[in-house]
Amino acid sequence: MKFSVGALLVAAMAAVSAQVTSPIGVFNVSSPTPNSPYVAKQILPCTYQLFQDVDTSGISMNINLVSAATGSNVTLNIATNADMSKSSNSAKQNGNVTYYEHSVNYLIPDTVVPGNYKVAFIANGAALDIPITILPAAASSSLAAKSGSATGSGAGASSTGSGSIFTGDATRLDLTTKTVVALAAVAGIALAL
Ligand SMILES: *[C@@H]1O[C@H](CO)[C@@H](O)[C@H](O)[C@H]1NC(C)=O
Ligand SMILES: *[C@@H]1O[C@H](CO)[C@@H](O)[C@H](O)[C@H]1NC(C)=O
Ligand SMILES: *[C@@H]1O[C@H](CO)[C@@H](O)[C@H](O)[C@H]1NC(C)=O
Repeated sequence: MKFSVGALLVAAMAAVSAQVTSPIGVFNVSSPTPNSPYVAKQILPCTYQLFQDVDTSGISMNINLVSAATGSNVTLNIATNADMSKSSNSAKQNGNVTYYEHSVNYLIPDTVVPGNYKVAFIANGAALDIPITILPAAASSSLAAKSGSATGSGAGASSTGSGSIFTGDATRLDLTTKTVVALAAVAGIALAL
Protein backbone atom coordinates (compact mmCIF):
# COMPACT_ATOMS: atom_id res chain seq x y z
CA MET A 1 0.00 0.00 0.00
CA LYS A 2 1.40 3.31 -1.07
CA PHE A 3 0.11 6.18 0.96
CA SER A 4 -0.76 9.41 -0.75
CA VAL A 5 -1.31 12.97 0.39
CA GLY A 6 -5.02 12.21 0.11
CA ALA A 7 -4.70 9.30 2.50
CA LEU A 8 -2.73 11.48 4.88
CA LEU A 9 -5.41 14.15 4.78
CA VAL A 10 -8.11 11.60 5.44
CA ALA A 11 -6.04 10.22 8.29
CA ALA A 12 -5.43 13.70 9.65
CA MET A 13 -9.16 14.44 9.59
CA ALA A 14 -9.89 11.10 11.22
CA ALA A 15 -7.30 11.93 13.88
CA VAL A 16 -8.93 15.29 14.59
CA SER A 17 -12.41 13.82 14.84
CA ALA A 18 -11.07 11.12 17.16
CA GLN A 19 -10.16 13.64 19.83
CA VAL A 20 -11.35 12.78 23.29
CA THR A 21 -12.44 15.58 25.61
CA SER A 22 -11.58 15.54 29.30
CA PRO A 23 -14.44 15.15 31.77
CA ILE A 24 -13.70 18.55 33.27
CA GLY A 25 -13.61 20.25 29.87
CA VAL A 26 -10.04 21.48 30.10
CA PHE A 27 -8.30 19.63 27.33
CA ASN A 28 -8.60 17.18 24.45
CA VAL A 29 -6.35 14.22 23.81
CA SER A 30 -5.41 13.45 20.21
CA SER A 31 -2.79 10.80 20.99
CA PRO A 32 -2.74 7.97 21.88
CA THR A 33 -5.59 6.87 19.66
CA PRO A 34 -8.15 4.91 21.71
CA ASN A 35 -7.93 1.12 21.36
CA SER A 36 -4.81 1.29 19.20
CA PRO A 37 -1.70 -0.87 19.51
CA TYR A 38 1.66 0.56 20.57
CA VAL A 39 4.91 -1.32 20.81
CA ALA A 40 7.30 -1.77 23.73
CA LYS A 41 10.70 -0.08 23.29
CA GLN A 42 9.07 2.45 20.99
CA ILE A 43 7.64 5.92 21.43
CA LEU A 44 4.13 6.42 22.77
CA PRO A 45 3.22 10.02 21.87
CA CYS A 46 0.88 11.60 24.44
CA THR A 47 -0.59 14.76 22.93
CA TYR A 48 -3.18 17.05 24.47
CA GLN A 49 -4.79 20.33 23.51
CA LEU A 50 -5.65 22.96 26.13
CA PHE A 51 -8.75 25.02 25.52
CA GLN A 52 -8.34 28.73 25.14
CA ASP A 53 -11.18 29.72 27.46
CA VAL A 54 -9.88 27.75 30.43
CA ASP A 55 -7.46 29.14 33.01
CA THR A 56 -4.97 26.31 33.26
CA SER A 57 -2.57 28.06 35.62
CA GLY A 58 -3.90 26.29 38.73
CA ILE A 59 -4.24 22.89 37.10
CA SER A 60 -1.60 20.20 37.42
CA MET A 61 -1.50 17.39 34.93
CA ASN A 62 0.00 13.96 35.47
CA ILE A 63 0.08 11.27 32.82
CA ASN A 64 0.33 7.60 33.79
CA LEU A 65 0.46 4.30 31.99
CA VAL A 66 -1.79 1.93 33.94
CA SER A 67 -2.17 -1.80 33.38
CA ALA A 68 -5.73 -2.95 32.75
CA ALA A 69 -4.90 -6.56 33.53
CA THR A 70 -7.05 -8.07 36.26
CA GLY A 71 -5.26 -7.96 39.59
CA SER A 72 -2.40 -5.87 38.25
CA ASN A 73 -1.36 -2.78 40.12
CA VAL A 74 1.24 -1.63 37.58
CA THR A 75 1.28 2.13 37.12
CA LEU A 76 4.15 3.81 35.29
CA ASN A 77 4.62 7.54 35.34
CA ILE A 78 4.76 9.17 31.91
CA ALA A 79 4.79 12.78 33.07
CA THR A 80 4.43 14.67 36.35
CA ASN A 81 3.26 18.27 36.24
CA ALA A 82 3.09 18.16 32.45
CA ASP A 83 3.09 21.42 30.53
CA MET A 84 -0.17 23.37 31.01
CA SER A 85 1.13 26.63 29.59
CA LYS A 86 -0.74 28.63 27.01
CA SER A 87 1.94 30.56 25.18
CA SER A 88 2.41 31.57 21.57
CA ASN A 89 4.91 28.72 21.30
CA SER A 90 2.20 26.14 21.76
CA ALA A 91 -0.69 28.05 20.15
CA LYS A 92 -2.45 26.44 17.22
CA GLN A 93 -5.40 27.48 15.15
CA ASN A 94 -8.39 25.46 13.94
CA GLY A 95 -10.68 27.80 12.03
CA ASN A 96 -11.26 30.59 14.51
CA VAL A 97 -10.57 28.38 17.50
CA THR A 98 -7.20 28.78 19.21
CA TYR A 99 -5.84 25.97 21.33
CA TYR A 100 -2.52 25.09 22.95
CA GLU A 101 -0.93 21.77 22.18
CA HIS A 102 1.67 19.87 24.19
CA SER A 103 3.16 16.46 23.64
CA VAL A 104 5.15 14.03 25.75
CA ASN A 105 7.04 11.34 23.90
CA TYR A 106 7.20 8.36 26.22
CA LEU A 107 9.56 5.52 25.46
CA ILE A 108 7.63 2.40 26.47
CA PRO A 109 10.06 0.37 28.61
CA ASP A 110 11.13 -3.01 27.31
CA THR A 111 10.12 -4.40 30.69
CA VAL A 112 6.43 -3.61 30.21
CA VAL A 113 4.34 -6.77 30.10
CA PRO A 114 2.37 -6.76 26.82
CA GLY A 115 -1.38 -6.43 27.18
CA ASN A 116 -4.12 -3.93 27.78
CA TYR A 117 -3.31 -0.61 29.37
CA LYS A 118 -4.81 2.80 29.73
CA VAL A 119 -3.06 6.11 29.44
CA ALA A 120 -4.52 8.26 32.21
CA PHE A 121 -4.38 12.03 31.72
CA ILE A 122 -5.12 13.32 35.21
CA ALA A 123 -5.89 17.04 35.61
CA ASN A 124 -6.36 18.05 39.24
CA GLY A 125 -7.37 14.51 40.07
CA ALA A 126 -9.93 14.08 37.25
CA ALA A 127 -8.76 11.35 34.90
CA LEU A 128 -9.32 10.95 31.19
CA ASP A 129 -8.43 7.34 30.33
CA ILE A 130 -7.40 6.30 26.83
CA PRO A 131 -7.36 2.48 26.45
CA ILE A 132 -4.46 1.10 24.40
CA THR A 133 -2.76 -2.23 23.77
CA ILE A 134 0.96 -2.72 24.20
CA LEU A 135 2.60 -5.27 21.94
CA PRO A 136 5.90 -7.01 22.70
CA ALA A 137 9.05 -5.36 21.38
CA ALA A 138 10.24 -8.48 19.56
CA ALA A 139 7.15 -8.65 17.34
CA SER A 140 7.73 -5.11 16.24
CA SER A 141 11.19 -5.21 14.71
CA SER A 142 10.13 -6.80 11.43
CA LEU A 143 7.07 -4.58 11.25
CA ALA A 144 9.15 -1.52 11.96
CA ALA A 145 11.54 -2.48 9.21
CA LYS A 146 8.63 -2.85 6.83
CA SER A 147 6.83 0.34 7.70
CA GLY A 148 10.11 2.21 7.69
CA SER A 149 10.96 1.21 4.12
CA ALA A 150 11.09 3.82 1.40
CA THR A 151 7.89 2.68 -0.25
CA GLY A 152 6.06 2.90 3.04
CA SER A 153 4.48 -0.47 2.39
CA GLY A 154 3.02 -1.23 5.76
CA ALA A 155 1.30 -4.41 4.70
CA GLY A 156 1.03 -5.95 8.13
CA ALA A 157 0.37 -2.67 9.83
CA SER A 158 -2.19 -4.10 12.19
CA SER A 159 0.25 -3.40 14.96
CA THR A 160 1.40 -0.04 13.77
CA GLY A 161 2.21 2.33 16.56
CA SER A 162 3.16 5.80 15.55
CA GLY A 163 6.47 5.12 17.20
CA SER A 164 7.35 2.27 14.90
CA ILE A 165 8.96 4.61 12.43
CA PHE A 166 11.37 5.82 15.06
CA THR A 167 12.91 2.49 16.00
CA GLY A 168 16.36 3.15 17.30
CA ASP A 169 15.91 6.91 17.15
CA ALA A 170 14.02 7.25 20.37
CA THR A 171 16.83 8.84 22.29
CA ARG A 172 17.36 11.42 19.59
CA LEU A 173 13.82 12.75 19.74
CA ASP A 174 13.49 16.22 21.12
CA LEU A 175 10.77 18.81 21.19
CA THR A 176 11.68 20.27 17.82
CA THR A 177 10.65 16.96 16.24
CA LYS A 178 7.14 17.35 17.62
CA THR A 179 5.78 18.07 14.16
CA VAL A 180 7.57 15.09 12.72
CA VAL A 181 6.08 12.92 15.42
CA ALA A 182 2.65 14.31 14.63
CA LEU A 183 3.17 13.53 10.96
CA ALA A 184 4.44 10.09 11.85
CA ALA A 185 1.32 9.55 13.91
CA VAL A 186 -0.72 10.50 10.87
CA ALA A 187 1.37 8.17 8.72
CA GLY A 188 0.83 5.44 11.27
CA ILE A 189 -2.90 5.93 11.03
CA ALA A 190 -2.69 6.00 7.23
CA LEU A 191 -0.89 2.67 7.28
CA ALA A 192 -3.49 1.25 9.59
CA LEU A 193 -6.34 2.19 7.24
C1 LIG B 1 -11.93 18.97 21.28
O1 LIG B 1 -12.63 17.83 20.84
C2 LIG B 1 -13.98 18.09 20.49
C3 LIG B 1 -14.64 16.76 20.18
O2 LIG B 1 -13.94 16.06 19.20
C4 LIG B 1 -13.98 19.06 19.30
O3 LIG B 1 -15.32 19.36 18.96
C5 LIG B 1 -13.24 20.33 19.67
O4 LIG B 1 -13.14 21.17 18.53
C6 LIG B 1 -11.86 20.01 20.18
N1 LIG B 1 -11.23 21.24 20.67
C7 LIG B 1 -9.95 21.51 20.52
C8 LIG B 1 -9.49 22.80 21.06
O5 LIG B 1 -9.17 20.73 19.98
C1 LIG C 1 1.53 -4.73 43.59
O1 LIG C 1 1.61 -6.11 43.30
C2 LIG C 1 2.80 -6.72 43.73
C3 LIG C 1 2.81 -8.15 43.32
O2 LIG C 1 1.71 -8.49 42.51
C4 LIG C 1 2.92 -6.59 45.24
O3 LIG C 1 4.15 -7.14 45.66
C5 LIG C 1 2.88 -5.13 45.62
O4 LIG C 1 2.89 -5.01 47.03
C6 LIG C 1 1.64 -4.47 45.09
N1 LIG C 1 1.71 -3.05 45.36
C7 LIG C 1 0.64 -2.38 45.80
C8 LIG C 1 0.86 -0.93 46.06
O5 LIG C 1 -0.45 -2.90 45.99
C1 LIG D 1 -16.19 31.57 14.52
O1 LIG D 1 -16.80 31.17 15.74
C2 LIG D 1 -18.16 31.54 15.87
C3 LIG D 1 -18.68 31.06 17.21
O2 LIG D 1 -17.76 31.32 18.22
C4 LIG D 1 -18.99 30.95 14.74
O3 LIG D 1 -20.31 31.37 14.85
C5 LIG D 1 -18.40 31.37 13.42
O4 LIG D 1 -19.10 30.73 12.37
C6 LIG D 1 -16.93 31.03 13.33
N1 LIG D 1 -16.38 31.54 12.10
C7 LIG D 1 -15.64 30.79 11.30
C8 LIG D 1 -15.11 31.46 10.09
O5 LIG D 1 -15.39 29.62 11.53
